[in-house]
Amino acid sequence: MQKRIRKAVFPVAGLGTRVLPATKTIPKEMLTVVDRPVLQHCVDEAREAGIEHFVFVTGRNKGVIEDHFDMAYEMEDMLQKRGKTKEYAALMADLPAAGATSFTRQQAPLGLGHAIWCARDIIGDEPFAVLLPDMITLPGERKSRCIGQCIEAFEKHGGNIIAVEEVPASETHLYGVVSVGDDHGHTFGISGMVEKPPQGTSPSNLIISGRYVLTPEIFKILETVEKGAGGEIQLTDGMKILSQHQAFHGVRFDGKTYDTGSKLGFLAANVAFAMARPDIAPGFLAELKKIIGSL
Ligand code: UTP
Repeated sequence: MQKRIRKAVFPVAGLGTRVLPATKTIPKEMLTVVDRPVLQHCVDEAREAGIEHFVFVTGRNKGVIEDHFDMAYEMEDMLQKRGKTKEYAALMADLPAAGATSFTRQQAPLGLGHAIWCARDIIGDEPFAVLLPDMITLPGERKSRCIGQCIEAFEKHGGNIIAVEEVPASETHLYGVVSVGDDHGHTFGISGMVEKPPQGTSPSNLIISGRYVLTPEIFKILETVEKGAGGEIQLTDGMKILSQHQAFHGVRFDGKTYDTGSKLGFLAANVAFAMARPDIAPGFLAELKKIIGSL
């Protein structure tokens, strides 16, 4: 019988150079979109999809991430004493169960493939989810969010799953791109993949958008894979090798993904997530209209 996806890996060891100077002392995963750290949005998505154990691959100067998923005793005590029950309940609802988080360090940012490999012992011999925390998602027509749709596809097809999204042809050189094999609409067989193809050589305009379900066989491959694009150990290169032995399926995520690792993406995410919040949207829209009206 197919093993259930219980664990998710969140690689959070990157340096976030694209959003400097914000990331000089604050990990980019802790920048806030509306009132939640980017990483919390991702953990919410994983939780909704049934993930029970959250594995964070962190790096130096990222200790605040570990603190965020722990109790904040003084704050909680003060909220209770001042009768701020709503705020207290909200913090408690976000707190992962004891033992449901693991933290390991990637000592040097050698690439996403290397970061995932650092989680090998914590994951063990079971298929697992990967969420790139700087990509945050809003749901579309289907109720489940992106990693939920990937897990549904895994339950149906097995193998390995990659979420993809369409981008204009002029942007494909910035991402990992897949080639489409057997096409079933929402899901399809992946017949090839390439990391950051030079402009004009991309096999499709479907980019790998930061959510995966992978089998544990990827770890052995990542151990030996050579440095690729940007001099980093690339997850895409590891997946390409794995695809010679195991099936890979693409999931066309029907919602919207925002890349908070870039300045524009981060700003767009704040607008979109604010507009998706019934308690904030009306007031925020009025402010937006004022700004736009004054341009
Ligand atoms: P990015 O390439 O977007 O992250 O990696 P980065 O290196 O922090 O970004 P810039 O280009 O310098 O702004 C995607 C994800 O993989 C993680 C990052 O933290 C991010 O969540 N990552 C990347 C690692 O954990 N380790 C690495 O060596 C590289």
